[in-house]
Amino acid sequence: MTLACLVALLAAALALGAARGQQAVCPPPEFDAVKGLDVRKFATAPWFSQAQMPLSFNPADQFYCVRARYQLNDQDDLTAGIKVLFYANEGRVNGPVVSTAKGSTHVEQSGNITDLEEPSKFDVLPTNLQTIFRKTLLRFFFPDHWVVAVGPSKNRTLAYDWAIVSAGPPKTPGKAGCRTDISFLGLFQVHQGGLWLLTRKPVDPVGTSIMRNVAEAMGFDLTVLGDVQQAECKYIGAP
Ligand SMILES: *[C@@H]1O[C@H](CO)[C@@H](O)[C@H](O)[C@H]1NC(C)=O
Ligand SMILES: *[C@@H]1O[C@H](CO)[C@@H](O)[C@H](O)[C@H]1NC(C)=O
Repeated sequence: MTLACLVALLAAALALGAARGQQAVCPPPEFDAVKGLDVRKFATAPWFSQAQMPLSFNPADQFYCVRARYQLNDQDDLTAGIKVLFYANEGRVNGPVVSTAKGSTHVEQSGNITDLEEPSKFDVLPTNLQTIFRKTLLRFFFPDHWVVAVGPSKNRTLAYDWAIVSAGPPKTPGKAGCRTDISFLGLFQVHQGGLWLLTRKPVDPVGTSIMRNVAEAMGFDLTVLGDVQQAECKYIGAP
């Protein structure tokens, strides 16, 4: 390696360090959801979470066998809305079930595709709360689900092998990028946000590592993520 080359490398490393030290601009400029998502194919099969942000309704002690199914209410009419069916185990792989199936405790979220021209944004809210509270109030606490990146699949039915879902654009500067949760003066969380790295295969280290790189390049703070255990999961009774 020549000296010039070494100096150039050092300068680049210093510039990178300086950039890291700065607070990120959040949401990152031009941040948006996926353009032209085929939402029918996105919703055609379940998604398995590989890593996600702990939330009050899905805390880290439930990071076992987490599976979500986005279900269109009507395949032929996207205005009919979408539901999020959820499954996880508490405490261990194949442990007690937390799900949106009848008789379980997890609250189903339902809502609409915000813009039919760009069907990668879903304004889903807890179904049971929608009968009690005004939607405008709920929206304040439960932000949209945005599909912000997808990886192509060789399987035409599935269309996508992985997907990064974010609770809207990440507006809060974090330790190493932008976060989706919003705090008031750092004192309490106004809303919890959400970030999910999803794959079609229950266990997919390759897809997960690609998603980590993509999410980081998009400006997300990955320190919010916890890993989800999927090996040996049976998903018994998963909706
Ligand atoms: C979804 O759209 C339907 C029909 O317009 C409406 O009744 C419902 O309140 C919407 N749901 C949400 C969560 O906005
Ligand atoms: C594509 O995925 C679907 C849904 O999971 C599956 O039923 C089908 O067998 C897959 N096709 C191929 C060629 O792998």
